[in-house]
Amino acid sequence: MKAVIPAAGLGTRFLPMTKNSPKEMLPIIDKPAIQYVVEEAVNSGINDIVIVTGRGKEVIENHFDIAYELEKILEERNDKEKLEEVRKISEIAEIFYVRQKMPLGLGHAIYVAKKHIDNETFAVLLGDDIIVAEEPCTKQIMKIYEKYNASIIAVQEVERKDVTKYGIIECEELDDGVYKIKNLVEKPSMHEAPSNLAVMGRYILTPSIFECIEKTKPGKNNEIQLTDALNLLLKKEDIYAYKFKGKRYDLGDKFDWLRINIELALQREEFKQKLMELIRKIASEE
Ligand code: G1P
Repeated sequence: MKAVIPAAGLGTRFLPMTKNSPKEMLPIIDKPAIQYVVEEAVNSGINDIVIVTGRGKEVIENHFDIAYELEKILEERNDKEKLEEVRKISEIAEIFYVRQKMPLGLGHAIYVAKKHIDNETFAVLLGDDIIVAEEPCTKQIMKIYEKYNASIIAVQEVERKDVTKYGIIECEELDDGVYKIKNLVEKPSMHEAPSNLAVMGRYILTPSIFECIEKTKPGKNNEIQLTDALNLLLKKEDIYAYKFKGKRYDLGDKFDWLRINIELALQREEFKQKLMELIRKIASEE
């Protein structure tokens, strides 16, 4: 299976940092966010990845390319550990890039990858959703796809007040954590939301989604929404949702970015003790 990672968004929620650098390159400790997303695809068994970029996103391509000068210097210094770390990134997967020339919405961003995907079922991993899970979230929904042979959307329950930030599904529960979708609403108001099950940036989509995107008119925020295209797909095919196991962080949200940095640092031996001491000290001074 191939994967599409849309990474063309403007990142306006993370200004001023994102004025001249992509939000996908925000560091999470010592790795850019998009590397976590690419690693999730690779750890799910996907080696052919299309990243949808746009103006100002060239630095993403450079990150996954060979850094010849850097490698040469590390080689001369005989710094094997760093050399391996740097090389690993350029060998991680086969990565292709297509550009979304205008920010016309998520549905449109996925559509620009159509030629590369051809006529196959594919995975979509949104470049600003980071999911930390024992089994990669994409792998979890790929397994559900194997069982149902239809499009699958990863969802999680959110607090009622947060439904306005997500695509929300109307559904019936079939199996433990598996739902049959009846309808989707993009960023509904609290009283319009059909449930509190929110779409979390990981999808397995059948290629019929492309015809549906073609037919989709601009919706919320005047953008071609994937959610609207999925509602058209529902008229032809079943779509299922899966309540995946894992923690999701929204990179567009400054507090979530702080949270993932702290939570992942606490899992690293080199920082754990020092960081706990710092947190305790700050808490005692409050
Ligand atoms: C997109 C989707 C939305 C989904 C969200 C998850 O919205 O349109 O349905 O819930 O990603 O992150 P965005 O956050 O790009 O506005």
